Formats: sequence, C-alpha cells, structure tokens
Amino acid sequence: MILVTGATGFVGRSLLRHLSAAGHQVRTLLKPAQRSPRLPAGVSVDVALASLTDARGLRAALVGVDCGVHLASADRTGNPAALQRTDIEGTRTLAEAAAQAGVRHLVYVSHLGASRESAFPVLRAKALAEESLRTSRVPHTILRPGILFGTEDHFTRPLAMLGASFPLVFLLPGDGDVLLHPLWVEDLATLITWTLDDHEPSGMPLEIGGPEYHSLRQVVSMILPAAGLTRIILPTRQPYLRAGAAVLGYLLPRPPIAPYFLDYLASNRTAEIDSVPRLFGLQPARLEAHLDHLRGKNWEWELLARQLAARRGL
Ligand SMILES: NC(=O)c1ccc[n+]([C@@H]2O[C@H](COP(=O)([O-])OP(=O)(O)OC[C@H]3O[C@@H](n4cnc5c(N)ncnc54)[C@H](OP(=O)(O)O)[C@@H]3O)[C@@H](O)[C@H]2O)c1
Repeated sequence: MILVTGATGFVGRSLLRHLSAAGHQVRTLLKPAQRSPRLPAGVSVDVALASLTDARGLRAALVGVDCGVHLASADRTGNPAALQRTDIEGTRTLAEAAAQAGVRHLVYVSHLGASRESAFPVLRAKALAEESLRTSRVPHTILRPGILFGTEDHFTRPLAMLGASFPLVFLLPGDGDVLLHPLWVEDLATLITWTLDDHEPSGMPLEIGGPEYHSLRQVVSMILPAAGLTRIILPTRQPYLRAGAAVLGYLLPRPPIAPYFLDYLASNRTAEIDSVPRLFGLQPARLEAHLDHLRGKNWEWELLARQLAARRGL
C-alpha cells in the first residue's frame, strides 16, 4: 500500500493515475474539509482523513503502508504561516510517523534551489522539510524538479491568464533572460512510480528537469500563440511589475500570478541538462510538445471563471 499526500493537487492527480495503472494499491491522505476532494475519475483509492500535523491521525493512516509519496504543500500560496504549518511542521510530523511505522521508502517532491539560506520562503521551507526527512531516518528519496507543466499546471495556465489580463502587451519580468528547466508532470509521475518500484532510497536530493533550458522570454513566446493571444512582449522592471501584481491582487480575489512568483523568477532554476536520462534512463518530453491544454480556450473567460471560483471558495 502506498500513502500519497497532496493527491488532490496538480502532481497528485497525475501520480494517482500512474500508480493505479502500474497496479499499486493507493491510500490518499486528505485533510478534513467540507468540500468533496478533487480526485481523478476512474481511479480507485483508499482514503484516510487526517491533518498533516495530527501525529495520531497519521499513525492510523500509515497502518499497512510500506511506501509513501509526500506532495502536500502550501507553496502555491507563498504564505509563510501556511508554509510553516504544512511544509515544515507537516513534513516533520509525517516523516517521524513514517519512520515509526517502518515505512520502507518515502518519496518527497521538493524544489530546485531548496536552501536554508534562500531569500524565498518556499525554498527555505523546502530545505527545512528535507532536513526533517534526514533527521527522522525514514528511508527516503528527495526529488527536486524546477517548474512543472501539464494540463492543470501552475505555470503555463497562469502565464496565459496573465497574458489575458492586459490588452495588447505582456509585461515580462525584467528582460526575461532568467533560465527555467521545465519538466512535464507526466514524466515526474513516471519517475516517482519508477523510484518506488525499482530504486533504493537515495538519501541525496536528486535535481531533475526536462530536456531543454528555456529563458522566460522563450517560454512566453511559446505560450502566447498556443493560448491564441497576440501581445507585444514588454520587458518590465521588477518594481513596476510588483506594483502591477499588487494592483491585480487588490482587484482580483485570485490573481493569475502571486507576487512571490516574481521572486521565483529572479534567478536561474536549472538542474543538469541530462539529469533525467542519466539518473532514470527516461527521455523527458519537451515543453513545446505539450501545450495543447492552452489551445482553443478563451483566456479572458478562464481568468474570470477563476475569480468566480475563488468567490465561491473553490
Ligand atoms: N507545480 C510545480 O510547478 C512544482 C514544481 C516543483 C515542485 N513542486 C512540488 O510538488 C509538490 C506538489 O505540487 P503541486 O503543484 O501538485 O501542488 P498543488 O497543486 O498546489 O497541490 C497541493 C496539494 O497539497 C494539499 N495540501 C495543501 N495544504 C495541505 C495541508 N495543510 N494538509 C494536507 N494537504 C494539504 C492540497 O490539498 P487541497 O486540494 O485539499 O487543498 C493539494 O492536494 C509540492 O511539494 C510542490 O512544492 C511543484
């Protein structure tokens, strides 16, 4: 039995399909909530209800579990209190409970650039979470991807919505020359499945990325036409962009891009270019080959629907 946390998220939903196709029995750890969980259709899973910081609930959820995948995170909020609760305390509680339960292998998805010294709260929280896995002594593998893309991602879709937020121009952070190393979410799900099936716990963090580095400007130049948007790409200095992000944050309940994402784009986020073929023997997919989820949509409407969903608390 494999316990998956964060199974309702972008990576989790893809991973459940992969684990189920590989014949694994899966239990999802869901936090108690009123709304029904967004689990992928057609995938049968056990459900355990417990908060990540509830040691007793976690011990019950881990009965009969031999492996785990820890994806639950508040990183999308960028909110330090939520990161402290979910990523730092939640990971520590889970790692200790998993060690006590004799879990054979816990896979944790961290982030490229995780470091205690990072000025970016998400990357600091990830480093502290990694540390608690090490101190708990649960056998583990830490995967550190950079940005991920796929149908319900938090990268290409928000950029398309950002494109739809302003007429005529796309405000590019700085000169857009920061380098990104996007990895397809389906490849990450394959790597996690293979790690559980065929690899010993690595202990050392494995930094991974797709087959190409792209500058942010290149990424935006791919995304705008795929999303059917014609915009002049306008390099914009960070202070103006932050002001624009603050205005959007004031006007919209759920702006396309949170201001903390601008911090993320402040420096290159890359692993070694051949990391995935070398470590796993998999040739990862190119970003340009998987942008179909952007096509044929009205991104102004998608932006509006996102605001309506936020107002309804979804
Ligand atoms: N997406 C990326 O580009 C990317 C890149 C590198 C690394 N990562 C890492 O990959 C992991 C998965 O990312 P993702 O994109 O799938 O995230 P996501 O879509 O934001 O999903 C987050 C998941 O965590 C759950 N969660 C949040 N707070 C929780 C709490 N207090 N207790 C229990 N569950 C909680 C959410 O549950 P609800 O649905 O109930 O809120 C959801 O299932 C994260 O650790 C992230 O840092 C992601």
